[in-house]
Amino acid sequence: MSKKILAIYYTQTGQLGDIVSNFLMPFESSDFMVEKVCINPVTKFTFPWSSDSFFDAMPESVLSKPTELQPFVLKETSYDLIILGYQPWFLSPSIPTTSLLENESFKKVLNNTPVVTIIGARNMWINAHERIKDYLRNSGAKLVGNIALVDKNTNLVSAVTILYWMLWGKKDKLWGIFPKPGVADADILNTKTFGQIVKQHVAKNNFGTLQQELVDSKAIEVKTNLMFVEGRAKKLFAIWGNLVKKAKNRKRTLVFFKYYLIIALFIVAPIVLFIYRLLFAPFLSGLIKKQKRYFLGLSTTK
Ligand SMILES: Cc1cc2nc3c(=O)[nH]c(=O)nc-3n(C[C@H](O)[C@H](O)[C@H](O)COP(=O)(O)O)c2cc1C
Repeated sequence: MSKKILAIYYTQTGQLGDIVSNFLMPFESSDFMVEKVCINPVTKFTFPWSSDSFFDAMPESVLSKPTELQPFVLKETSYDLIILGYQPWFLSPSIPTTSLLENESFKKVLNNTPVVTIIGARNMWINAHERIKDYLRNSGAKLVGNIALVDKNTNLVSAVTILYWMLWGKKDKLWGIFPKPGVADADILNTKTFGQIVKQHVAKNNFGTLQQELVDSKAIEVKTNLMFVEGRAKKLFAIWGNLVKKAKNRKRTLVFFKYYLIIALFIVAPIVLFIYRLLFAPFLSGLIKKQKRYFLGLSTTK
């Protein structure tokens, strides 16, 4: 009997849709019945974003506040594998993703089902994925693989280009000098390699070595600097999320957050990182290695 695969995701610009389509290519055979579902919120997040609307998505993303989704119908009540595509927003699962994982009928479909996650991010997905893991665990799903596609340019360069892309709606080279924003086209196309790996495991119904194979084929990487920055930013984002939620003047508090984020990202983080790499990291190589294995999905302890 053919294996039933559900690929479900949200995408705003189409990037994650392209990633998921490429990933699914190897499954185009009679051995697999693939259902691809793109979810959408009732109130769409407009693209391109205005500066105000972009930062306004922070509190609800960080505090996991769902929004209403347009009704979606799944053909089956259970699947042999669910592919969950998602993107981080402000180091948290995007609001549409949270809304999907809070959906009671989808939770039932997740129960007792192997799940492979595919992330399409700028470069900071570690904290968001911790939250995704909690959601999956609470729904009784079994996370068997994680793939993370990122913009491989340096952190500051990709921060500039993603803001250009999100706020101006253009996915081209800013001033002709910056690289194209987002996940590189070649990396998006290459996602079918990871689809092929996952396909072999679903066919055998054995996911034991899947994540190790995905790591070996560079479907996911963890950079020391980004792991360090995300570790620090997690608590700060939670504080800001609550501050804005409780603020009498939401708009003004978000303006403070915007400038805070710009200063933190472009000035404070590079200085703190420099000190960390020079004075601390050399003595923490064992711990760093252990944490990387954890975030790569190869071990269950940090
Ligand atoms: C509001 C917002 C916040 C974002 N925050 C992050 C983030 O914290 N980390 C990250 O790596 N990418 C972040 N991104 C980039 C997205 O994860 C994603 O790569 C991009 O929006 C394209 O995804 P799409 O397929 O929905 O178009 C953010 C994007 C938006 C719109």
